[in-house]
Amino acid sequence: MAQVTHNPPEGAAADWTIPQDWYRYTPQEHAMWDHLFARQAAMLPGRVVPEFMAGLDILRMTRPGIPDFAELSERLMQATGWQVVAVPGLVPDHVFFDHLANRRFVAGRFIRTPEQIDYLEEPDIFHDVFGHVPLLAHPVFADYMQAYGAGGLRASGLGAIERLARLYWYTVEFGLIRHDDGLRLFGAGIVSSYGESIFALDDPSPNRLGFDLRRLMRTRYRIDDYQQTYFVIDSFEDLLRQTAETDFAPIYAELADQADLDTATIVTEDRIYNRGTQAYAHAKAGTA
Ligand code: PHE
Ligand code: FE
Repeated sequence: MAQVTHNPPEGAAADWTIPQDWYRYTPQEHAMWDHLFARQAAMLPGRVVPEFMAGLDILRMTRPGIPDFAELSERLMQATGWQVVAVPGLVPDHVFFDHLANRRFVAGRFIRTPEQIDYLEEPDIFHDVFGHVPLLAHPVFADYMQAYGAGGLRASGLGAIERLARLYWYTVEFGLIRHDDGLRLFGAGIVSSYGESIFALDDPSPNRLGFDLRRLMRTRYRIDDYQQTYFVIDSFEDLLRQTAETDFAPIYAELADQADLDTATIVTEDRIYNRGTQAYAHAKAGTA
């Protein structure tokens, strides 16, 4: 999501945005979007939170081709007052937080090549737009994202960005949510990945634990492979209540003396949906 650099690159505005230049996408690039879209759209109903599928519809993302940010922003603005803006890649933390705090979602404009279909080092437009944007049409989730941005600006001053980044990771990117018929996906990192959309819900390997703010902010995460632990929220309303309506400053202070937890650790207070076998992670470690 962010890295430390200071000046925007050549051609970018002071807030790091660049034009999407939608007309430049080639037919092959649109076809790549359509391919990825079809694969996820066939698999996600019944696995993803229903508000995600509703968002695809509300924003007319079901039409073929890479979305034009101008059009997408118009629809999103009507739904929840959000916009989507293009950036050249990862941006500095404060730039990222500032855009979110102002209801602007920053997205990469490039799309993966056929060689990168299932593994990408930097988020592309499919991850950023297909993964993140549909839920921004949901009013409660939209408010959570804005509050997160404001919280990020505040955390910078409190030396707590790393803690707060874990909250983003385990909710916005890799969150699961309770549903009448079991668990559902909502994290963008999961729903934009074919493999992880299956793994996160069905594989016996990872832990699935109830959301607990302090616990989650102590938990390391992995950026190189599927998660070893997923956290399950009760609802978007509950997530908003526990974050936006809670003062984090005392929590950061309290956590300062506590040790981090490893990606696969389970503690006695955890509400366990599934205790993972970690077979997948162990097999990978054995062959690495
Ligand atoms: N309420 C948090 C604070 O006091 C900010 C926050 C809001 C963090 C929403 C995450 C999500 O800093
Ligand atoms: Fe993301």
